[in-house]
Amino acid sequence: MSLIEFADFSFKYLGADSLALRKVDLKIEEGEYVVITGPSGCGKTTLCRAINGLVPQFHRGYIAGNVIVDGKNTRESSVAELAQIAGLVFQQPENQLVTLNVEREIAFGPENLGVAPEEVRRRVEELIDMLDLDHLRDKHPHEMSGGEQQRVAMAATLALKPKVLVADEPTSNLDPKSAEAILNLIAELNKRDMTVVLVEHRLDLVSKDASRVVLMDKGRLIADGAPRDVLTSDLCQEIGVGIPKATQLYKRLKKRGITLDTVPLTGAELAAIVQEVKRR
Ligand SMILES: Nc1ncnc2c1ncn2[C@@H]1O[C@H](COP(=O)(O)OP(=O)(O)OP(=O)(O)O)[C@@H](O)[C@H]1O
Ligand SMILES: [Mg+2]
Repeated sequence: MSLIEFADFSFKYLGADSLALRKVDLKIEEGEYVVITGPSGCGKTTLCRAINGLVPQFHRGYIAGNVIVDGKNTRESSVAELAQIAGLVFQQPENQLVTLNVEREIAFGPENLGVAPEEVRRRVEELIDMLDLDHLRDKHPHEMSGGEQQRVAMAATLALKPKVLVADEPTSNLDPKSAEAILNLIAELNKRDMTVVLVEHRLDLVSKDASRVVLMDKGRLIADGAPRDVLTSDLCQEIGVGIPKATQLYKRLKKRGITLDTVPLTGAELAAIVQEVKRR
């Protein structure tokens, strides 16, 4: 069985006119790194909420079909139970931070689940180290920058040791350097066997690490496949999703009758292909 399975799942928020998700079928296996992208309002955040049970447990509405996460139907499981399987880092991290300082924030989740105090301490120290939060220990979350809040929110989520990290545009408030740092960390976590579902627009930064890219439009999944396949399809342009510069160049060359051996996702990959062509 897949770790996450959407089966013909539709959802409409209470009071909304249209469906936020329409007949979504999606399977995610353990160890995958799935990037979800698509225009604003297409349902990406709703999809994330459906994985950790906030939809339909907290956000109520019309629901059809099922989402099964690690064998649990999200209609029947509590958010607390699901949070230990699928940890969600919210699009607006300040809404997620509930305590007065970084240590308390990271300890909050595991303490509430009854994890032993010494194990909580161990996780707090490990995450402070991993996310470079040492200098923020005593700071109130509301005195932090967006990037700092984002890292604290990520640490608090990881403290529950979830099987899947679901990160909803974790770089949207960040400068390019901090964004790259967070995305490198996510890639690293995936290499250490964590399943990742990431909502992200900066495909130039994440495509090289992702195992799959899923395109959404108007509540539907319109493409789902290997990054090199999805990013070269014309659907991206049709719905206004920006593809990496190197991939754009591949497409332009192809239109002029020049087909490179592989589809580059980064400048470095493109450079390697050009080197190879020069050598021949
Ligand atoms: N709490 C809510 N109540 C009612 N409608 C909502 C709620 N949250 C989202 N919606 C609606 O559901 C649809 C999908 O929204 P969602 O937030 O999932 O999109 P998104 O792809 O994450 O957009 P963005 O890129 O702007 O974050 C939109 O039409 C939105 O207005
Ligand atoms: Mg969103």
